[in-house]
Amino acid sequence: MQNFDYCTPTRLIFGKDAIENLPDVMKPWKRILLTYGGGSIKKIGLYDKVKGLLKDFEIYELSDIQPNPKYNPSVLDGVKICKEKNIDVILAVGGGSVLDCSKAIATGAKYDGETWDLITYKVKPKSALPIVDILTLAATGSEYDAASVISRTETNDKTAFIDPVTYPVCSILDPIYTFSVSKKQTAAGCADAINHVMEQYFTSDTTLLNDGFCFAEIKSLMENTKACLENPEDYRARAEMMLCCTYGCNGILALGNSYSGWPCHAIEHALSAYYDITHGEGLAIITPRWMKHILSDKTVDRFVKYGVNVFDIDKNLEKYEIANKAIDETYKFFESIGIPMHLKDVGIDDKRIDEMAHHIAVNEGLENAYVPLKEEDIKLILMASL
Ligand code: NZQ
Ligand code: ZN
Repeated sequence: MQNFDYCTPTRLIFGKDAIENLPDVMKPWKRILLTYGGGSIKKIGLYDKVKGLLKDFEIYELSDIQPNPKYNPSVLDGVKICKEKNIDVILAVGGGSVLDCSKAIATGAKYDGETWDLITYKVKPKSALPIVDILTLAATGSEYDAASVISRTETNDKTAFIDPVTYPVCSILDPIYTFSVSKKQTAAGCADAINHVMEQYFTSDTTLLNDGFCFAEIKSLMENTKACLENPEDYRARAEMMLCCTYGCNGILALGNSYSGWPCHAIEHALSAYYDITHGEGLAIITPRWMKHILSDKTVDRFVKYGVNVFDIDKNLEKYEIANKAIDETYKFFESIGIPMHLKDVGIDDKRIDEMAHHIAVNEGLENAYVPLKEEDIKLILMASL
C-alpha cells in the first residue's frame, strides 16, 4: 500500500431542504459573487430561492458560464468582478462547469498576475476566496474535490487545475434540484462518475477495501441512473446517484493505491477542448476502446475481478473471455442509457486525430500511466472510437 496524506475539508449538507442552511453558512461574509450557467437555475426556481434567502447580503452576479467553462470570458470576467467589488465569497450554483469556473475565479481573485499561470501550474496559488456551492447536476464530484477544468478555446487547451485552496468550504446537495436534469446530461453524469471510479480502480497497487468501494460505486451508479432515466423525480435514485458522484473524484476511492495516470480523462479533455463535446459522453466512448487497448497479461486479472464483481460474469470461464465480456458489458451499459457510442455521433471525424494524439502525448504525461500510452497508442484508441 502506498503512503498518502489526505484531507477533504468540505462540509457536505445533504438532502431535502438543505438549502435552508444557506444564510447560516454564508454568515461570515457580506459581499457575494453568485455564479451560474445558462439559466437552468432560473427555470427550476433556485435562483429566486437563493436571492430570497440572501436578501440581507450584497450580491453581484456572473451568469452564462458554459459547459466546458471558458477562461475567456468567464474566468476573466469573474476575477475582474471579485477585484473591483472586493468580493468575500463565491456562491456557485449549478453543475460542474459553474463550480470549476468559480474555483479558478477564486484563485485569480487573490493573485495579481495572469490567472492562467495558476491554472497551468506556472505559479502556485497562495490562497483563494472561499467557495460555497449548491449543486444541480450529479456528475463531476467538483463539489467535493479541489479540481477545476478550464478551457482556452484559442489554443485548444482544456486543463485540469488541482490545488487544495480550491476545495469548497461547503457544498449544499439537495437531490431535488437534479430532477430537471435532461436524460442526456443524466446519462453523461453517470458515465463521468463511472469513469472516475475506473481511473482509480485500474492501477497496479490496490487494496481489497478500495476494490470493494469501486464495485459498489459502479453498481449503484448503473442501477440508480437507470431508475433516474425511467423516473426523473425518483428522489431515492437521484439521491444515491448524487452521493456516488460526490464520492467519485476526490481520491477517497484510491487511498493507498498507486496512481493510474487518469488516461481516459487525459484523452477526453482533448476531445472536448477541440470539439466542445459533453465530457461524460466523450468518456463513455473512449473507455471501452481504451480497455481493449490495454488488455494484456499485465492487466487481465483486474478486468476479471471487475467483470465478476460488477457484471456477475461466471468466474470459471477463461480469463480473457471474462475480460472481453466485461469490456462488452461496459459498452452495452453506456449504450443502454442512450449515450452515443462513436466519435462520429458527436461530430468528430478523423481529420484532427493526429493533432489531438500529439497534443495529448505532449501535454498529459501518459507515459507514466498504469499502462503507458505513447502518441501512437492514443491515436489507435481514438481511431477505434470513430
Ligand atoms: O448552464 P445551465 O443552464 O445551468 O445548464 C446546464 C448545462 O447546459 C445543465 N444543467 C445543470 N443543472 C441542471 C441543468 N439542466 C437542467 N436542470 C438542472 N438541474 O446541464 C448542462 C451541463 O452542465 P455542466 O455543468 O457542464 O455539466 P457537468 O456537471 O457534467 O460538468 C462538466 C464539466 O466538469 C468538468 C468537465 O470536464 C466539464 O468541463 N469536470 C470537472 C471535474 C472536477 N472538477 O473534478 C472532474 C471531471 O472529470 C470533469 O473533467
Ligand atoms: Zn470526469
